[in-house]
Amino acid sequence: MPEIVPLEWTGDALRVLDQTRLPWEQSFVVARSHRDVVRAIRDMRVRGAPALGVAGAYALALAGRELNASNLRELQASLSRVGEEVASARPTAVNLRWAVDRMLRTASSCTSLAELPKRLEAEAVALHQEDVAANQRLSRLGADVLPQEGTVLTHCNAGALATGGYGTALGVIRAAWEQGKRLRAMVTETRPFLQGARLTTWELLQLGIPTQLIVDSAAGSLLAQGEVRCVIVGADRIAANGDVANKIGTYSLAVLARENRVPFYVAAPTSTLDLSLPSGALIPIEERSGEEVLRWGEGRIAPAGVSVRNPAFDVTPARYVTAIITERGVAWPPFDETLRALVAGGLPREAVMVVAPHEKAS
Ligand code: MRU
Repeated sequence: MPEIVPLEWTGDALRVLDQTRLPWEQSFVVARSHRDVVRAIRDMRVRGAPALGVAGAYALALAGRELNASNLRELQASLSRVGEEVASARPTAVNLRWAVDRMLRTASSCTSLAELPKRLEAEAVALHQEDVAANQRLSRLGADVLPQEGTVLTHCNAGALATGGYGTALGVIRAAWEQGKRLRAMVTETRPFLQGARLTTWELLQLGIPTQLIVDSAAGSLLAQGEVRCVIVGADRIAANGDVANKIGTYSLAVLARENRVPFYVAAPTSTLDLSLPSGALIPIEERSGEEVLRWGEGRIAPAGVSVRNPAFDVTPARYVTAIITERGVAWPPFDETLRALVAGGLPREAVMVVAPHEKAS
């Protein structure tokens, strides 16, 4: 089965698999400048927190070649301005800001104008490779947490498309399936952008994993009827106390999971942790255009003139989260302790793995 490649560096441009066209057609946008990358991010041709980080890094690599400067200081200052433009293209996913900061640190460590473009390119490529490796590792760790069989509910798209490659929440389902666990994926359609209906089902069908698509509002009753063994989602930003910002609708699913004693897992690389924020209340929540809500394909679904709110993300309080699966280990509550320990140097083995936690849902 060929791997899904959401982002490909060609040596002088970033080739972006256009996620607005999936699943109907596989077409690509070729970003040759940092502005092209910013446009692709804003238009959601590339989306998903880790993928935004990777794309943001390549945007800086492209800027390192484009910008004219007569000396190193001038180029570093221009890059900082570009960094702001890139990081603010989508504000909730901290991976974007994290990647920009890493690229700017690389730029500041350069000692000559001539070395800077090559160093930035090498850093972006390294960041991309590290993201894929982190996703593969967290997926292996997370696979052990999933039940041997049954239905796993997921929301939005946290697959290869949302990352540098392989995926996070969907990567965990994939790794568990490849380990021989007899799972079915239940996928919420994820209004209004339909990441679940368009993208997650597309990935799961290619992986050969049994998949059922549901409308977002069906999740509650299916959880109540005992059809779901656990819920697993990705994240756009995780605060120091374990509060999780993720696609709008995640909070409702987490509350419903708790009500029905179903474990609720979050899978994300440590680049999604923002330990500078004590709680999720401080996470900026992107509001997108009302047009996304008003339109279905080419047609309108609501009367002209109606007012619309379109928050793209919500924050799930840590108390609803059973565990946070990262490439450095699986963190269990109390997250304010375990997340810090995990970033500082990993967790002891017993904190990383607990026997069949799905059997004792909180
Ligand atoms: O608006 P999107 O599609 O960029 O939102 C993406 C999500 O919320 C994902 O669930 C999250 O980024 C995790 S991706 C591995």
